[in-house]
Amino acid sequence: MLNSTFLQEILRAENLKKYFRISKGIMSAMRPSSVSLVKAVDDISLRLDEGQVYVIAGESGSGKSTLARLLLRAVEPDEGRIIFKDKDITEKKDADLKEFRRSVQMVHQDAYTSLDPRMKILDIIMEPITIHDKGSTRRERQEKVYKAMEDVKLEPVVELSSNYPYSLSGGQRQRVALARALVLRPAVIIADEPVSMLDVSVRAGILELMKDLKDKFRISYVYITHDLSTSRYIGDKIAIMYAGKVVEMGAVDTVLFNPLHPYTQALIDAVSEPNPSNLQKTRSIPIREGEKIFSGGCNFYFRCPYSMDKCKKEPSLNNQSGTDQSEGSPDHFVSCFLYD
Ligand SMILES: Nc1ncnc2c1ncn2[C@@H]1O[C@H](COP(=O)(O)OP(=O)(O)O)[C@@H](O)[C@H]1O
Ligand SMILES: [Mg+2]
Repeated sequence: MLNSTFLQEILRAENLKKYFRISKGIMSAMRPSSVSLVKAVDDISLRLDEGQVYVIAGESGSGKSTLARLLLRAVEPDEGRIIFKDKDITEKKDADLKEFRRSVQMVHQDAYTSLDPRMKILDIIMEPITIHDKGSTRRERQEKVYKAMEDVKLEPVVELSSNYPYSLSGGQRQRVALARALVLRPAVIIADEPVSMLDVSVRAGILELMKDLKDKFRISYVYITHDLSTSRYIGDKIAIMYAGKVVEMGAVDTVLFNPLHPYTQALIDAVSEPNPSNLQKTRSIPIREGEKIFSGGCNFYFRCPYSMDKCKKEPSLNNQSGTDQSEGSPDHFVSCFLYD
């Protein structure tokens, strides 16, 4: 079971915000009213501990990839801070980000577009070493690539390393992406829907590999998914996102067995192939049609079957661990007036 007091924090986000301004056509320059604001990430805080898997789940458009890019310092936050190994790196420039860039790696959803088709597998996996270990010899780099390929079970190593991405299967390409992330021995891997483009038949193999790598090299993951069925297999903690906000957060088992937020309950209902042993508690929560977001109050107001008058005010994320049936369950946060 999770016990955060014994775990070492590795990466922390505090009150991250990223809003995008979307202009609607050529009139937007003259009429500010035709510019709309998308609150992609709206005041999100999270703490990732060493060796832990933090699942970020939510429908498409909920802000998961923007959060990933913020955590990687690939985009600048409008507000908030990012703390890596107890150091505030929010304002650090490239020269001071070397250790961070090396220690926090990304695996993308689509290994078809994220791997350069003109490069051999050897060079794709070697590229991060070439960037970060300039002093190393070609031979040393090659040894590291071969080792990383063995670690992700891309074999026979020598033969496959001279191939191009097009000759590999989807699952093999995602193994290349993992080897590339792994080759610098990172502390954190941020995986943005790493199996969602893959054939169902190869998903389990990749998830199992990720889990093995985590245990072997003590890597922490931020695992992003729109599919709850994989999160219990790999995750320790989970945050459920809706319209840029975390609506519920806690240990994976706690949240999935005792979902409190109506949106989480609906997401669990929407799991197409729930594993009967881990998601027995699914219930039927009808969600009203439409994507309309209520601004200024609870984002979920228009879709929620339980909306009340007080939901026109913004709920805050409060600890509800006492609401669980299990005594002494770890922190369980929910942002909903039903639990006020
Ligand atoms: N660069 C951008 N410019 C404008 N809007 C963006 C940009 N990136 C993301 N968005 C918007 O932010 C919201 C969240 O997107 P995203 O983070 O990709 O969500 P998810 O990964 O959960 O599908 C969406 O409404 C999306 O259209
Ligand atoms: Mg995304």
